[in-house]
Amino acid sequence: MKRIVLAYSGGLDTSVCIPLLREQYGYDEVIAVLVDVGQPESDIKEGVNRATKLADVALLLDARQEFVHDYLFPLIKANGDYEGYVLGTAIARPLIAKKVVVVAQNRDAEAVAHGCTGKGNDQLRFDAIFRATDLAVVAPVRELSLTREEEHAYAAKHGIAFESEKRWSIDENLWSRSIEGSELEDPAAYPPEEIYKWTVSQDAAPEKPELIQVSFEQGVPVALNGERMDGLTLITRLNEVGGIHGIGRTDMIEDRVLGFKARENYEHPAATILLKAHRDLERLVLTRNELRFKAAVDQAWGELVYQGLVMDPLYDDLNAFINETQKRVTGTVHLKLSKGLACVLGRASPNALYSPGVSFDAKAETRIVEGFSVYHGFQSRLIRRSCD
Ligand code: ARG
Repeated sequence: MKRIVLAYSGGLDTSVCIPLLREQYGYDEVIAVLVDVGQPESDIKEGVNRATKLADVALLLDARQEFVHDYLFPLIKANGDYEGYVLGTAIARPLIAKKVVVVAQNRDAEAVAHGCTGKGNDQLRFDAIFRATDLAVVAPVRELSLTREEEHAYAAKHGIAFESEKRWSIDENLWSRSIEGSELEDPAAYPPEEIYKWTVSQDAAPEKPELIQVSFEQGVPVALNGERMDGLTLITRLNEVGGIHGIGRTDMIEDRVLGFKARENYEHPAATILLKAHRDLERLVLTRNELRFKAAVDQAWGELVYQGLVMDPLYDDLNAFINETQKRVTGTVHLKLSKGLACVLGRASPNALYSPGVSFDAKAETRIVEGFSVYHGFQSRLIRRSCD
């Protein structure tokens, strides 16, 4: 009995994988695993229906809480982005891959599969986790280099119905939505308004601003407007309120792992608000040296996650440093949401390093600073003097 477990999304790529794994690869049993990381409910429902029809076994695993606690909280602490891309798809892939591996191991499967093409980053992220096991890795769409048209034709032959041919390739989880492909591949093309689902345009956003407060404990968001809530609820609420005000759209040219540039569009209201607030709070409570060093650590963190290399011990090393710094990142940030922008209005923390007690108009203190200033820039003065 040849058994394989497939990371299933409900989309075209992974749907054609099911018959392909039987026909082209000779698997007797295909187990389709759909991992819920906050995709729209309708996508999940449709996916489950399709998987039940196509696969021998269809499983739906709700990983939303785990996604928030084990992946998004560390991301917030690390101010996680890559070249200005708020890591979204990238941060969910390792969790999905790990869930698939666990099913494969529990059910004595000999292989795992994903539906990624050979062009993007996701294949590398799945492979990085899959290949850390003894399981064989199969990627039918990549291996058979199927085009979108070929996939549609093959799907139709197998009675896999896709209502309308979707124009864009969309990946969505509770943290962000990514839209790529079709006319968006031309970097010069303006993104059509219809690609966005979570946010209104800046122009359509209400004139009246909205004030909110986000509270953090040790780098983790714990309350919205003074009301304590779990991370999943908080992120969901911020996506709603941020979306209403047109906050959190990104249109960028991104350097993929394989080295080529891609035009990418994203929306991520909660992420924009939370990262803005978190960065601001860090500036109040971390020392200048910590902030400088952490910026480099955060960047390394973002690159690792983008590449899907969370199995690299460096990932744990960086998290250990970041967690140590976050012990003091507790406090509340006040923001104004208006016309596509989240602006910080104020921040407070019991650990603020800001010291109103130091008053520079006190006579004694200015005298001390005078002494310091004699030597400030001393080396450059020596050089200037000798050069003129
Ligand atoms: N460029 C992003 C990444 O590599 C998003 C890819 C998402 N995929 C998609 N089909 N929209 O993480």
